[in-house]
Amino acid sequence: MPNFLRSSRRNWLKLAGATTLLPALQAAQVNKAALIGPTTSTAEDRERRMQWWREARFGMFIHFGLYSQLGHHEWAMEQEGIPVAEYQELAKSFNPKPHAARAWARLAKQAGMKYMVMTTKHHEGFCNFDTKLTNYCAPKQAAGRDLVAEYVEAARAEGMRVGFYYSLMDWHHPDGARCATDESARRRFVDYIHGQVRELCANYGKLDVLWYDVAWPLSAEGWESVRMNKMVRDLQPDILINNRSKIPEDFTTPEQKIEASSGPWESCMTMNDSWGYQIGDDHWKSPKTIVKNLVTCARDSGNYLLNIGPKADGSIPEESVKTLAAVGEWMERYGELIHKAQFCKVKRSEFANFTRRGNSLYVHVHYWDGQRIGIGGLKNKVVKASFYPNGREIQFKQDDFRILLTDLPQNAPDSLVAVIELQCDSEPDQDLENVRVSRPRMQVGV
Ligand code: GLC
Repeated sequence: MPNFLRSSRRNWLKLAGATTLLPALQAAQVNKAALIGPTTSTAEDRERRMQWWREARFGMFIHFGLYSQLGHHEWAMEQEGIPVAEYQELAKSFNPKPHAARAWARLAKQAGMKYMVMTTKHHEGFCNFDTKLTNYCAPKQAAGRDLVAEYVEAARAEGMRVGFYYSLMDWHHPDGARCATDESARRRFVDYIHGQVRELCANYGKLDVLWYDVAWPLSAEGWESVRMNKMVRDLQPDILINNRSKIPEDFTTPEQKIEASSGPWESCMTMNDSWGYQIGDDHWKSPKTIVKNLVTCARDSGNYLLNIGPKADGSIPEESVKTLAAVGEWMERYGELIHKAQFCKVKRSEFANFTRRGNSLYVHVHYWDGQRIGIGGLKNKVVKASFYPNGREIQFKQDDFRILLTDLPQNAPDSLVAVIELQCDSEPDQDLENVRVSRPRMQVGV
């Protein structure tokens, strides 16, 4: 546990006098042992709730707020030291074009995504949704309307599952920092946060994902996360909750990296280097990089939540539109291999990646050399090799250490990532250690 959390917990315990919050504290302690499991739900219930998510694999993250007007990434307020009084003026001019979210949802669908997660409130504290608990929200400022409601409607119209991102950390609320050292501030602030989470869960119909972020400066006990998430589950019995309210809940959230873990995981990533719109950020990932990443997530049974940072008017940066359209074309042909992928034990190649379904291994070739494809250490006998999806057969030779495909076309069958299906006689597996150790070596001295 990082030091700042340890000390905030200590302070909080001192201040709380361990009386008012005892039930929440006890509940959280009971669940301490369960750091790798859900804490406000059972494993069986989680399996039921997560079924759609496991097949969805690909979702759209949307970072949209007052910061979109500055175009300096969503951390501008803190990192540029902008005074709160100056920053909040941005609420008087934030007025995206009506129903901008429709284009987000259409693009998500076009890209082959199945769900969306939008920032309802980021660290800046401004609420894109209608809340009775503050005037610092879109309906009561320049926008004059509920941007989250527009998003929900747009997402549903395209058949997307609906997720809400919600930042616990708040740079605008007067108690957002002092809650760590002042119990009455903590009480007010936690009531405010729980109240908003309740509004989000009660006012928008069925929600699919609640995506908390940054739990600074409190611990799970301080946030009363167990109580908060029980309330969420009462209101939304099918919802999935991420792991950022300091209790593990349903899935982990590796950020800007793909890192498989034993439980459900979702890797969130930007398309350039910024979540919120950043005018000068031209460090865009190519469609090929995105497809490679998506394949890696599917291979290892994880999800890929890919971000867009719309401009202040809600329009999506051109590069994101172009890239997601290209990814969508690829997904039209191969999407099934992503959505229906099962955990794949074959992982190693420098020019290809893999997914699996049953006994079929799908070789996703991102660097095509026009001559041959060799895969080392495949432990299974290949019965048939063919191009996917057209099924044209490919010649191959296989020995104990390698399968080698020859007679390949000079040009890649797909300019992004071409796919070859290897039907195996059992679940595909790879053992490169065996190649290293057992492949016959030259005689000494030859
Ligand atoms: C980090 C950042 C935040 C971003 C999030 C996405 O926690 O603080 O700005 O929203 O990552 O995962």
